[in-house]
Amino acid sequence: MNLQELSNLNWYHTLCLKKVGGGFEIIFDRNKADYIFEGDWCFNTESRKIIAQITDVVKGCSMLDAGTYDGFFAHLFHLAGAKVSSLDVSNHASRRELMNFAGIKDDFLHLNIYNLDTLGRKFDFVWCQDVICHLDSPLLAVKRLREICTKKIFLGVDRFTCSPIRDVHFFTEDFGLVDINKDNNINMVARPGNSDYVFAYPKSAIKQMLIHCGFKNPKLKFSVRAEGGKIYKTVKKRVVDIYEADIDPSYIFDPIKHDLSYIITAK
Ligand SMILES: C[S@@+](CC[C@H](N)C(=O)[O-])C[C@H]1O[C@@H](n2cnc3c(N)ncnc32)[C@H](O)[C@@H]1O
Repeated sequence: MNLQELSNLNWYHTLCLKKVGGGFEIIFDRNKADYIFEGDWCFNTESRKIIAQITDVVKGCSMLDAGTYDGFFAHLFHLAGAKVSSLDVSNHASRRELMNFAGIKDDFLHLNIYNLDTLGRKFDFVWCQDVICHLDSPLLAVKRLREICTKKIFLGVDRFTCSPIRDVHFFTEDFGLVDINKDNNINMVARPGNSDYVFAYPKSAIKQMLIHCGFKNPKLKFSVRAEGGKIYKTVKKRVVDIYEADIDPSYIFDPIKHDLSYIITAK
């Protein structure tokens, strides 16, 4: 795929490439880029902050970026010194083609988050951002993440401050679980693996979700901002809250009480 064809793909994050030697590197400074793929979301100004927040913790450790899309965050963690694997239910063309084009080798797992128990691998840290809001069984997903995580999870949850129409706290604090699409007309772009709805959870629900699935001490670690890009034209910016929680070693999973598999298998 040549550059023109690449730029015609649907880019989720804005990605900047710089020529290095015979190949390319993904960089986060637009001004130093040789090529820029304009995506739906631009985290460039925040990316250094993310690296700074987690570098001391993840350096040298194994890490999974669950629901990686085009690999933007996986690449951030690589820069932060982690040994990164990424996972997605969809092998998004943009990620695949970019890696081929840039000659970047990545450890990509083409897997549904619900099937993580079949992987037979564990990771020190797990990053999962902007994924559970699309899932019909968020608790099952967090439970699966718990099973393959040995130290800490970073769970990113969209606060939907991007809403140009309503105050998001109205949704998240007062109602908890809301189908934003129906009410608010924020259209998620239909993509394979993504449901076309977005559920927003209140802070208390996120914390309880983590505790229920075997994590402890969940707390808000930091928030990142993204600017809306070419598809989300009406969206000026959004904020993603990143929760951090440790593994609870005393947690014993009780399959009778907690196994939620029936939710996705039942007719
Ligand atoms: C909104 S994007 C978030 C991408 C990235 N984590 C970020 O924060 O920028 C949601 C991603 O989750 C993936 N996804 C949705 N359902 C999934 C599932 N059941 N298992 C694994 N990945 C899933 C989608 O394919 C998509 O790449």
